Amino acid sequence: PCILVLNGPNLNLLGTREPATYGHETLADISRLCADTAAEHGLKIEFRQTNHEGELLDWIHAARGRCAGILINPAAWTHTSVAIRDALVASELPVIEVHLSNVHKREPFRHHSFVSPIAVGVICGLGSQGYRLGLQYFAQSLKG
Ligand code: DQA
Repeated sequence: PCILVLNGPNLNLLGTREPATYGHETLADISRLCADTAAEHGLKIEFRQTNHEGELLDWIHAARGRCAGILINPAAWTHTSVAIRDALVASELPVIEVHLSNVHKREPFRHHSFVSPIAVGVICGLGSQGYRLGLQYFAQSLKG
């Protein structure tokens, strides 16, 4: 089974982007952590990032019937995009939403997520460990 790991806008800048908020790890570091976690659990993953909302929508559409779940950090689109939420629903796949930072102790505009109501679960504030925990959950739940 394949888990799609999706990253939204500006996450390609991790490592140099607001390190006080997001830490010093790069997206390549997070990709490696996910690959290691997947290997430990016999999961297949596809790890992707885009700054183009339409591209993310296309990836979500293509996952339907092909993947077993979606782990997504929608980044700023979390707070703005009905389209991403609708695409995730249309995929008919279980979704885990992850954020590096604890969005609830940040600006009020980050407290609302269009994705959370349709997600199986949400992990935030645990940095890259959130990705690892989300993948572990998928590995466990796919075993039955
Ligand atoms: C983020 C939180 C969002 O509010 C923000 O726009 C991001 C990153 C996080 O991982 O903490 O770009 O999703």
